[in-house]
Amino acid sequence: MANKQDFKDYINTGYTTKGDFINLGAAMLGDETVKDAYVKIPLKTMNRHGLIAGATGTGKTKTLQILAENLSEKGVPVLLMDVKGDLSGIAEPGENNAKIEERHAAIGFPYVAKKFPAEILSLSNQEGVRLRATVSEFGPVLLSRILDLSDVQSGIVSVIFKYCDDHKMPLLDLNDFKKILQYTTDEGKEEFTNEYGRISTASTGVILRKVITLEQQGADLFFGEKSFDPQDLLRIDENGMGYINIIRLTDIQDRPKLFSTFMLSLLAEIYATFPEQGDSGRPELVIFVDEAHLIFNQASKALLNQIESIVKLIRSKGVGLYFVTQNPTDVPDAVLSQLGLKVQHALRAFTAKDRKAIKLTAENYPLSDYYKTDEVLTQLGIGEALISALNEKGIPTPLARTMLRAPMSRMDILTDSELSDLLKTSKLIPKYNQVINRESAYEMLTEKIETANTKEAKEKAQEEKEAAKKTASQKTTSSRKSTVNPWIKTISSPTVIRSILGILSKMMK
Ligand SMILES: Nc1ncnc2c1ncn2[C@@H]1O[C@H](COP(=O)(O)OP(=O)(O)OP(=O)(O)O)[C@@H](O)[C@H]1O
Ligand SMILES: [Mg+2]
Repeated sequence: MANKQDFKDYINTGYTTKGDFINLGAAMLGDETVKDAYVKIPLKTMNRHGLIAGATGTGKTKTLQILAENLSEKGVPVLLMDVKGDLSGIAEPGENNAKIEERHAAIGFPYVAKKFPAEILSLSNQEGVRLRATVSEFGPVLLSRILDLSDVQSGIVSVIFKYCDDHKMPLLDLNDFKKILQYTTDEGKEEFTNEYGRISTASTGVILRKVITLEQQGADLFFGEKSFDPQDLLRIDENGMGYINIIRLTDIQDRPKLFSTFMLSLLAEIYATFPEQGDSGRPELVIFVDEAHLIFNQASKALLNQIESIVKLIRSKGVGLYFVTQNPTDVPDAVLSQLGLKVQHALRAFTAKDRKAIKLTAENYPLSDYYKTDEVLTQLGIGEALISALNEKGIPTPLARTMLRAPMSRMDILTDSELSDLLKTSKLIPKYNQVINRESAYEMLTEKIETANTKEAKEKAQEEKEAAKKTASQKTTSSRKSTVNPWIKTISSPTVIRSILGILSKMMK
């Protein structure tokens, strides 16, 4: 049996931290929880991203909850992607019980029950602050990625955005985009060909079909106004605690495309609008994505590349990204290699495939004299994990089997009445939940086409009248020669098009 004092020294040397930190719990030697050997994550490395993995029911979501509430307590705002709807309890204090008492007695510090400032947000018609983005803000590059378009088709999307920009025509929702797409090869064909070159009907047809597929996944709910300002995720309450923003995504599990569309758009917007962070010693915002395999499954290569670039770049904005999923292999290697904190809960060895995954996972952890990693992985109890982090110098800490503390807030969800009370206090709901239907590309083009049609009809009537007159007066000179140009310069209300095209194409390099 290894010497306990040596073990304490091993942990305490690896996990020293001068600045602010989160104490996740106590390290374990075999089955024994060792007091005064704490697993402390420096706040300043929390923008270095992380992974929480483990089989079902092993404690991943509770670990997420522990990290989120401790960040909040230290004044760092948090964003949670609540796919299963089991995180609302953060807004109410937890309750002590015999099991928690025992856990904390072993760890060596008392259990504290506490609630945290929370805001509920939604991507769909569920209750909460509505999250939306306009198609203009989304930008041509991201839209093409999400639609999985070819280079030629992406080129068309860029031209369409340029046209709308040139003509001050806001693209707010997908109806706007579909309308202009049709217009380019229909009523506006001549004008487009003259100004921007010919656009093929076959290509716009493909793009249109892909937009419709995206709509069928519910993306029409996401695109539109009023668009969400990511600065509103950075609120601190009157006691100096960071807000925990919980996006309820329970109705999105079967719509992975919508989920990744939203994630990418949010990250791109954050990247575009947050200032560059120096070595501030604390993150600006920490984002947790529960059930993260939903983003990566079914994502195209182009989309994965985009996610990888954003993950890499967003760190400099002081934003930490944490993926929570059952198997580390759910996360692409290029993303995995960028993660600072790894919390690995128990894995189950039912099949040969499982055993292979366990071996692979074990190999990705630092070697340790104290643990046989592949064995420990299957022996971990609920609420225990193998942890490897970065110390304040950015050096990987020693591997530590950890008895995690219990969440301070409630481990269960809010009741309906607690939830409606929470929603009533929201300051963001009045700001974002009114329906705006400002004039945009759809209305502007419809009007343009109508005007053109009436003008044409009028001119035709006039022509006929004149012709009749001419015949009557026996004159034989011919009439009008020009066809009607359907383009009438439309003057729109001033719009802000925060195209993130530039930023995203830079990211792609
Ligand atoms: N740190 C902890 N302290 C106390 N109890 C815990 C802790 N972690 C987990 N538990 C217990 O284990 C249960 C399951 O945890 P959790 O919901 O986090 O699992 P999970 O890994 O997210 O599961 P799933 O994959 O099904 O989402 C909790 O309801 C709680 O009772
Ligand atoms: Mg979970």
